[in-house]
Amino acid sequence: MAETSADREQWATRLGFILAAVGSAVGLGNIWRFPFQIGQEGGGAFLLVYLLFVVLIGIPVILVEFVIGRRSKQSPVKAFSELGYGNWRYIGGLFVLTGLMIMSFYSVAAGWVLRYTGGSVTGAYFENPEAYFATISEGTMTIALHGLFIALTAVIVAAGVKRGIELAVKTMIPALVVVMVALIGYAATLDGAMAGYSWFLSPDLDVLAENWMSILPAAAGQAFFTLSLGMGVMITYASYLGEDRNLVEDSGWIAGLDTLIAVMAGFIIFPVLFAIGATPGDGGPGELFIGVGGAIAEIPGSHIVGLLFFGVVAIGALSSAISILEVLVSYLIDSYGVDRQRATYGMAGLIFLLGVPSAMDLDTLGLIDGITGGFMLPLGVFLLVIFVGWVFPRSDDELSKGLKSGAEGRLPQLWLWYVRTVVLVVVAIVLVFEAYNQLVAFGVIG
Ligand code: PHE
Repeated sequence: MAETSADREQWATRLGFILAAVGSAVGLGNIWRFPFQIGQEGGGAFLLVYLLFVVLIGIPVILVEFVIGRRSKQSPVKAFSELGYGNWRYIGGLFVLTGLMIMSFYSVAAGWVLRYTGGSVTGAYFENPEAYFATISEGTMTIALHGLFIALTAVIVAAGVKRGIELAVKTMIPALVVVMVALIGYAATLDGAMAGYSWFLSPDLDVLAENWMSILPAAAGQAFFTLSLGMGVMITYASYLGEDRNLVEDSGWIAGLDTLIAVMAGFIIFPVLFAIGATPGDGGPGELFIGVGGAIAEIPGSHIVGLLFFGVVAIGALSSAISILEVLVSYLIDSYGVDRQRATYGMAGLIFLLGVPSAMDLDTLGLIDGITGGFMLPLGVFLLVIFVGWVFPRSDDELSKGLKSGAEGRLPQLWLWYVRTVVLVVVAIVLVFEAYNQLVAFGVIG
């Protein structure tokens, strides 16, 4: 039986929704993508812009998606027709495309993490982490692990929102936090700790002044990627939500926890990189594996620490992948009445095929990561902001539902005004800069 609006599931508990949304946000974006982005884009300067972006743009945009999701109680593609703006359903198409593309490479990178989790038990990467990453990041085995990761994700999504996602995430997030705290403690004892912290935490304003046209779009793309914004995840998750939720409070929790975990990852990775004499950024997508893998290999208890670290990263990746697949699956359910099982396994198969090129070639993976994170997510956000800010009447009313009395009047109005002006302009600038950078990169303009 296909799910209809009437028997649409809701989150089982209050905490369930927050955990699922945090589970979506926290993943490879925080632990794998964030470190090499910040490495390539100037350290503390990037961190500063990224943090500002999360607070000033990220949180208001989470609310943009929440409002659409809770109001329509539909998957992103159908949400716009449900609200009476059928022409906007093409944005839903953009989301589905973005989701397919992100999943295709995300699952490949998650496959590396699975490989390192197993490699911690056997000690496979301890000898030469750099050479090991080179051998495992492309090829047949990489394809196989990408397949395994998709299969794991599909099993959870097929079980449905309540039983699958909510339950999985409730165990994942606390485990993630506990293991990371322990690893931060370990990293603090390393010789490189101070150098690592200062590189990570002190913004060089000259670097910022010289590179702001590339730092801004990179930080924006990273913020949207890590908060799962711009492809309908938060619309979908909010569609399973009752009217009594305080959306503003929830958005703060999600952004806060997500940022905390990214910064925690920094407190592990940068001391480690400095301790082994590596330059942040040089490792590219392999940074996490070469840097942290290298350090784990050097310390007492390597097998256990490695297993815990990569195991937890794999769990974080899984809870994010679940959310992307859920967007794709709920699209098939809501728009075509396909049943959940078929929708899930069909999409999983498609993603597997789409990921093969990334599993065979690291540059392809980097390219798709760049296009989706740098351009497609900001584009999705831009369109959503126009919709909520200028097209859909009284978005602020929806936001005010569930707010504590007293805050009802002003805050939603202020938010709406801010979204339709400041957020819109900033995201437009990000898109223009990114387009300009791409044209330069491809040699179209000098
Ligand atoms: N936010 C996830 C992460 O940080 C990735 C993601 C992107 C999930 C876009 C959903 C949508 O790993």
